[in-house]
Amino acid sequence: MKQQRELGNTGLMFKAIGLGAMPLSISGRPDEAQAFAVIEAFVADGGNFIDTANVYSLDDNDIGHNERLIRQALDQLGVRDKVMVATKGGLRRPGGAWVVDGDPDWLRQSCEHSLQALQTDCISLYQLHAIDPKVDFRRSLETLVALKEEGNILHLGLSNVSPEQLEQALEFTVIASVQNRCNLFDRRDFHNGLIDFCRARRITYIPYSPVGGHHGHVRLGQEPLLQQLAAKYQASPHRIALAWLLHKGRHILPIPGASRIASIRDSLQAMDLNLSAEDIAALDRLAEQ
Ligand SMILES: NC(=O)c1ccc[n+]([C@@H]2O[C@H](COP(=O)([O-])OP(=O)(O)OC[C@H]3O[C@@H](n4cnc5c(N)ncnc54)[C@H](OP(=O)(O)O)[C@@H]3O)[C@@H](O)[C@H]2O)c1
Repeated sequence: MKQQRELGNTGLMFKAIGLGAMPLSISGRPDEAQAFAVIEAFVADGGNFIDTANVYSLDDNDIGHNERLIRQALDQLGVRDKVMVATKGGLRRPGGAWVVDGDPDWLRQSCEHSLQALQTDCISLYQLHAIDPKVDFRRSLETLVALKEEGNILHLGLSNVSPEQLEQALEFTVIASVQNRCNLFDRRDFHNGLIDFCRARRITYIPYSPVGGHHGHVRLGQEPLLQQLAAKYQASPHRIALAWLLHKGRHILPIPGASRIASIRDSLQAMDLNLSAEDIAALDRLAEQ
């Protein structure tokens, strides 16, 4: 059970390491055969939670690329009903930029597109990608709650939120998960109480960029402490960083990205890595960025 995580208090259980599918669809993405192979390796090694978003694409003309890719791969593998695909709405990609748009009409349109791309009647977990400062948060939430009541969404999640914003949302509706940036070098949500608050309220905390991010992950291999622990445990620095996160709570479900089979295979093995209390304390003391 150590390797299992419940989504909120839904009773739905998942492997403690998910797949962050973004690198399979953004700039620099691998070809389709390699992308399929990454998903296949993840599922073959027992993974059953995949994070995506409508905007994991090259730009606005390519919206839904990642969702279609995942759906096709899962269909081909015959495991669509065994893997949860969590998607998001609330951004746009004009010219490849990342722009927040929490307007109710856009959220509804995005959800409809995601239903089509995933070829489903109901999205298991739909996350608000970010709060749009130009739109009253309650209006974005109302739209998502309406989509849920209409049967298009089973569970709601938030992303890129503060503790205050989460509390605001909870006054309004049930939230199953919070997805924020969190890794050894970015521990804001440990300091501001969000991770503890999620634990207390039985909300799954999903660290994104859990090994440092699309470009930042290379820093892991340069840290002397990570190098030392990697040698000691015969594991990659990435695996050490993920094991550290897993150790921080039974409600924490990291979603490392991967565009190579070797990356996701290695990340999944973090579930079997037991770091000593001393080494966890040493990692806790590592300087943040
Ligand atoms: N909600 C949001 O706003 C938001 C923002 C960013 C990301 N996300 C989600 O979070 C996921 C993860 O974040 P991320 O992709 O930005 O960063 P990340 O997971 O910290 O790092 C991604 C890169 O690290 C490399 N990597 C990961 N595990 C590895 C391992 N065990 N060994 C060697 N290399 C490894 C991979 O390289 P290769 O590509 O070479 O395999 C991958 O592309 C995304 O895919 C996305 O689903 C959400």
